[in-house]
Amino acid sequence: MKILSVVGARPQFVKAALLSREFAAAGLDERLVHTGQHYDVLMSDVFFSGLELPEPRYHLGVGSASHAVQTAEIMMRLESIVIDEAPDCVLVYGDTNSTVAGALVAAKLDVPLVHVEAGLRSFDRRMPEEINRLVTDRLSQLLLAPAESAARQLRKEGMSDGVVVVGDLMVDLALEARAALPPRPAVLDRFGLGERAYAVATIHRAGNTDDTIVFARLIAGLHQAQIPIIFPVHPRTRRLIDLLCVGATDNIVVCEPLSYHDMLALQTHAACVVTDSGGMQKEAITLGTPCVTLRDTTEWTETLEAGWNVLAGSDPETIAAAVRRKRPQQRIAPYGSGGSARRIVDAMLDAVPVGREAVTCAS
Ligand code: UD1
Repeated sequence: MKILSVVGARPQFVKAALLSREFAAAGLDERLVHTGQHYDVLMSDVFFSGLELPEPRYHLGVGSASHAVQTAEIMMRLESIVIDEAPDCVLVYGDTNSTVAGALVAAKLDVPLVHVEAGLRSFDRRMPEEINRLVTDRLSQLLLAPAESAARQLRKEGMSDGVVVVGDLMVDLALEARAALPPRPAVLDRFGLGERAYAVATIHRAGNTDDTIVFARLIAGLHQAQIPIIFPVHPRTRRLIDLLCVGATDNIVVCEPLSYHDMLALQTHAACVVTDSGGMQKEAITLGTPCVTLRDTTEWTETLEAGWNVLAGSDPETIAAAVRRKRPQQRIAPYGSGGSARRIVDAMLDAVPVGREAVTCAS
């Protein structure tokens, strides 16, 4: 089977790390396309080297732009590659502009589409990710859901063919990487941190970074939590950090984006993870660290079970109280505990026809 996988943004590199390894082990021929949506060394290269990802066969180099321009540029540059490679399927991950662009190109060339992380919904169409998910799921032949709730949602929307619950690649990689961590990872000493005596925070969603007042309220909540907070800054958040002088004199320690393993180590030993990222909500609860989500909704509803994750929106008091809340007793593992990469390979071997006739023309 020849698979053309499309990645472009940081969380997709993490997911691809585990699945690319499984494809190689199963003797499947994967060709990786990097769209270039994320391009800074700390947003892209460190993940390829740190997670031993194969070099992409193609690099589209699209860079940053408005949603329409970025999505269209990826589509224009990807189309001829799909035609030339004539893969048995195109595989996309998650909900980014790279995902929806890959999905549209595959669908228009009549190449079977495989969506990893199908069926997630925030039910908030103001989020660009929600639009990307709805479109990608609708176009996919094989819908790989991380949990039963996502499969149920797909059936509710009339998609029942090709839905398989496979678990979650990010969760599985987090478990594997945690097992390899030293008892006291070096990153804790680098920041001078005590066991469960600090929080780690990330903010990058458009809803939290497009409006300075919303962002200032989030920062006020972090201040009020009165605990050291390590805050690796996504490039889109940098302007606001500088504007509000965050980290100059307070409990917030601002730093550059961290590698996968440093971030995982910080999350493992933290008292709390505070984030608007989807991936970190899952990672936190998998690592047994309570999470505070700086949003009003989450696609990862299972993380809310037993109080492991709390939706704090942008109210400073609510955020501070959630950061300082007591750690839940009962552990949960709603996205499985290993084996998702193997289940994805099995589902693909079952569902994707091999050796179909190549598309020769895009018009
Ligand atoms: C994207 C995804 C989001 C995902 C996130 C993971 C979409 C719509 N959003 O958001 O779902 O959670 O990736 O990080 O696809 N920038 C740089 N260097 C980079 C990359 C980005 O400076 O390497 C800056 C640019 O100013 C850019 C901005 O960050 O305009 C936003 O980047 P973009 O890829 O559009 O969206 P993300 O916020 O990263």
